[in-house]
Amino acid sequence: MFKIAVAGTGYVGLVAGVAFAEMGHQVTCVDIDEKKVEMMKSGISPIYETDLEDLMQKNYAAGRIEYTTDYQSAYREADAVFIGVGTPENADGSANLSYIATVARQIAENIEKDCLVVVKSTVPVGTNDKVEQFIHDFLVNDVRVEVASNPEFLAQGSAVHDTLHAKRIIIGTESKWAEELLKKIYEPFKLPIVSVNRKSAEMIKYASNDFLALKISYMNDIANLCELVGADVQDVAEGMSFDDRIGSKFLNAGIGYGGSCFPKDTKALEYLASQNGYVLKTVKAAIDVNKDQKTLLYKKASNRLITFNGLKVAILGLTFKPGTDDLREAPSLENVPLLLDQGADIYAYDPVGAANFARVYPEGKSSKGTITYVDTAEAALEGANVCFIFTEWGEVKAVTPEGYKMLMRTPLVYDGRNLHSIQVMEEAGVEYYSVGRAPANKGGLKELTKNDLQSSRR
Ligand code: UDX
Repeated sequence: MFKIAVAGTGYVGLVAGVAFAEMGHQVTCVDIDEKKVEMMKSGISPIYETDLEDLMQKNYAAGRIEYTTDYQSAYREADAVFIGVGTPENADGSANLSYIATVARQIAENIEKDCLVVVKSTVPVGTNDKVEQFIHDFLVNDVRVEVASNPEFLAQGSAVHDTLHAKRIIIGTESKWAEELLKKIYEPFKLPIVSVNRKSAEMIKYASNDFLALKISYMNDIANLCELVGADVQDVAEGMSFDDRIGSKFLNAGIGYGGSCFPKDTKALEYLASQNGYVLKTVKAAIDVNKDQKTLLYKKASNRLITFNGLKVAILGLTFKPGTDDLREAPSLENVPLLLDQGADIYAYDPVGAANFARVYPEGKSSKGTITYVDTAEAALEGANVCFIFTEWGEVKAVTPEGYKMLMRTPLVYDGRNLHSIQVMEEAGVEYYSVGRAPANKGGLKELTKNDLQSSRR
């Protein structure tokens, strides 16, 4: 059992803290936000994540986890401090490391015994060398302190499960002492551990995330071609998936990837390459395809409808994926302003993300159109002229073809998640467009101009 401090209580920090407590370690989660700390003490999670509150409450009651703003005591007593603070994107695509630097300095100024600092936040390759130097520069007491890299691979919505049942634990260290300590901390998880040097560990995180982003963009690119030539991308993906060199996951074409990782990590790696005088052509292509993909359905619909002015537009799903209230880089954020600017009257439904969305686009008039948030998919569809499906929530999947036909004024549906069979939708009398599946009706990609199809590409 080790004394572990965790800096930052976002997706990475809080979930890691809870997982370490669950494995029997003594954990102190540190956050600068007093209100958040009080909330967590009373068993409430600041993030929406399956199973998290149950485990927070269980481990808090067992005395294995505590929450505090008092970083001095937490770092002073820790055998290891895990850093899970944010590394948001700067305007030029680089990662903003100011939160990491603040924590590093606090650690340096407070530790009184040997301590391993473990960076879980995603940081550009080479950052952990600098963090270690930075800590040594500010170190007050004569103790051993080293930095290890331990990237996190959890996905939102399944964060607790992904952490407790990770496919692998990556540890990047520069000494036997650090490697052995980190291995011991992870021993109770009984998971495969890959031990490499620090820079390789940092690179594994980016290379993995960007590979997945690339896989999605590749399928979206193929999807668009499928649609133009009359193939069906879902059938194509299924056919590809039997080859285990390709695998069956992350082959779903759709409205582009969003979230806190893929968009940021692709840009960060592209930036790292450019800083080293290299052009990372594959990752650049993934970014370009994704940018176009997010508004492709909007373009199809604008072509079909001429204008959205005065039309009732139903939007089903606002978050970047189901199981989270996170809106970061969600396709909805790209499409809603375009629709509002066209004078659309939007009725939006999302089972958990609406409140967050309303902070960006408050209910009522906004530019030329209006936005109203409703509590059910059916309320959004009632009397609508057109519907966009942006997130594959269970509640959205549950709307039947007959439901669209019955509820909408004109049953015209643009589905960014390929939730329905084209044939069944059409048999129900719904004019239905999706991604990468040959459109039986007019109004698909074929009718877009070359310019619309390749807008962001040079
Ligand atoms: C991702 C990685 O999965 C995780 O390992 C990493 O640590 C952080 O980034 P997350 O962003 O939470 O996790 O979600 P994920 O489920 O991977 O989906 C990311 C985006 O890709 C979503 O917008 C999703 O809709 C999209 N996606 C995913 C597709 O468009 N098609 C797919 O086949 C899979």
